[in-house]
Amino acid sequence: MDKFIIEGGNKLEGEVEVKGAKNSTLPILAATLLTEDKFIIENIPRVRDIFTMKRVLETLGASISIKKDTAYIDTRGAIGYEAPYELVKQMRASYYVLGPLISRLGRARVSLPGGCAIGSRPIDLHIKGIKALGADISVVHGYIEAYAENLEGSNIQLKGASGPSVGATINTMMASVKANGVTIIESAAKEPEVVDVADFLIKCGAEIKGAGSNRIEIKGVDNLSGCEYRIIPDRIEAGTLTVAAAITKGDVVIKNVEPIHIEAIVDKTKEIGADISSGEDWIAVKMTSEIKPTNIETSPYPGFPTDMQAQFTSLLTLADGISIVKDKIFEERFMHVPELVRMGANLKRESDYVIIKGVPYLSGAQVMASDLRASAALLIAGLAAQGTTEISRIYHIDRGYENIEERLSKLGASIWRLRE
Ligand code: EPU
Repeated sequence: MDKFIIEGGNKLEGEVEVKGAKNSTLPILAATLLTEDKFIIENIPRVRDIFTMKRVLETLGASISIKKDTAYIDTRGAIGYEAPYELVKQMRASYYVLGPLISRLGRARVSLPGGCAIGSRPIDLHIKGIKALGADISVVHGYIEAYAENLEGSNIQLKGASGPSVGATINTMMASVKANGVTIIESAAKEPEVVDVADFLIKCGAEIKGAGSNRIEIKGVDNLSGCEYRIIPDRIEAGTLTVAAAITKGDVVIKNVEPIHIEAIVDKTKEIGADISSGEDWIAVKMTSEIKPTNIETSPYPGFPTDMQAQFTSLLTLADGISIVKDKIFEERFMHVPELVRMGANLKRESDYVIIKGVPYLSGAQVMASDLRASAALLIAGLAAQGTTEISRIYHIDRGYENIEERLSKLGASIWRLRE
């Protein structure tokens, strides 16, 4: 298993470009299964999860090649209906084939994803949405089995105990684009990735209104066609680079961003003392002051994203005072806390929040990555720490950040990959 070695203390300076959004690329690749045609999808991040989704599509019989940041997909011809455990256990988002398969074939068999490092992550709302369209769904031998002769438009309330669900909104939207009549999704997730998937489907001929609000209206169409589409920039990668610039007292221009998508992150980074300016598709982050403490509570878009909680926790370990970071979206998303403590941070976890007492410095240590964003948090801490940090299990980072060590090195970081 590869490791990252980081010699901390270098300021990040220069320009860096953000890649395409992993979390909309995954469902958009799955959505190509909705119809028999050819697609060209640009601005694909070359990260592990995307290559897992490529394998899912290939297993189902589609042909897909990824050259640089463009995917060429052909979904003509027969496709299968089963997403096996071997793939779904590697990446939960493989469940995004459920909606497209039930729509195209009237049948789908998709492994239940099982546990996850950041919490229990049920998928009851995905099932609720697709059932509401008239599918018959049961869970047998660890698989979701869905059948439907016809899908019928329906009025679906998708609010769960923890608020709206990005995945359930997208899966239900994909399942409903060719259903008879009109589907209304109430309490829909408003994340930019939901809008990206809706825009892709619209380009293929779907009739969707209201994506980005909490009520999405989908008028079923008879068929969809292939298209060329460009994925939006990854807002979490942009946020992660913003925090990396701030913690190293750096001066970085981050390009290929959608400033409106990262407003909550930028506002918090300004609050802790950074100077941030922005243009149409870039932001510039400059940090000259001490890090000020702040409080954060994650919430669905446009609130502060749970996917940035861990990275901000790293930043606040060096603040001049006490901060509280609360995350109620995923109950176990604090795996970075004990690792940061090993680097000298003063953190105390209480149920769904962490109390952070800023310390003057972090010291490099051997730490272990546990999930994608927790790993990013350790990377950020390592960039600022005194001495050497060694991060093991970095396949978690490779799931969502393309070639991150090379891009950080270009900004002046001292980081390299130890292949094992
Ligand atoms: N939930 C349910 N039932 C469901 C689905 C979700 O109760 O059927 C709950 C979840 O347990 C959670 C809340 O609803 O408490 C929100 O979860 P959501 O469904 O919105 O999350 P997701 O679709 O599983 C996506 C991203 C996550 C990101 C969340 C929240 C992908 C592939 N994943 O997950 O990204 O944290 O939305 O924004 O899009 C990451 O990239 O590191 C990552 C974990």
